[in-house]
Amino acid sequence: MIPLPPNTELMPDAESTARAAAEHLLDMASSASGERVAICLSGGSTPKRLYALLASPGFVERVPWSRIHWFFGDDRVVPWDDPLSNVRMVREAFGHESPVPATHLHFIPSDEGPEAGARAYAATLQDFYGAGRFDPERPLFDLVLLGLGSDGHTASLFPGKPALAERQAWAAPVPEAGMEPFVPRITLTFPALASSRSVLFLVNGAGKRAPLQRLADGEDLPARHVESVGTVRWYIDREAADA
Ligand code: 6PG
Repeated sequence: MIPLPPNTELMPDAESTARAAAEHLLDMASSASGERVAICLSGGSTPKRLYALLASPGFVERVPWSRIHWFFGDDRVVPWDDPLSNVRMVREAFGHESPVPATHLHFIPSDEGPEAGARAYAATLQDFYGAGRFDPERPLFDLVLLGLGSDGHTASLFPGKPALAERQAWAAPVPEAGMEPFVPRITLTFPALASSRSVLFLVNGAGKRAPLQRLADGEDLPARHVESVGTVRWYIDREAADA
């Protein structure tokens, strides 16, 4: 078994990962201090089942949909109806009868291009937060969901790319992605992800053994640099952990 990050909960399988993540999301929503709850969604394929689960019987009636505002940790700079779009993935996962009020799903404006879109999304986040600087006592997000790329990236923070060094802006352009799909991206930056009560990585499948082993070996991969005002947790299934 691969040595796993601190605060890892080993899951029997991908379905267990999704169900545990749904329960954690409900816990963070119910313990939120304000009327509004802010949740930052991960892209990619791993969280699809979580999002579909939230909108399905057994969970849909438990989620405080009117209070939750949904944001994105990153997106690809493609049209929102493009198969590569994380917005499209999320909307499909929540379903056509989506329980999410339209005003509560805050897309990354990928149609504005990487630079302008990153500036615009930072402004969206700051408008929601009500300030232009993070107050550690008042994290922006109640929960940040993240995945782990096979190269150790998370969100669209890729190894060796300039966005890793961004410590002021809340969102950054990624003109050149570090792995497929090789389209420009817009990503939240480490400071924005850190302004959170909880960060939860979801990692399933044998394809994640390599980045998990590299993290265990101490390699300086982007996922290692994710912090939180609260707790960084990992839900990793046995397949990924080689357990
Ligand atoms: C994206 C995601 C990205 C993803 C990882 C893992 O836009 O692709 O934000 O960071 O979480 O690449 O992707 P999978 O879940 O598809 O393995």
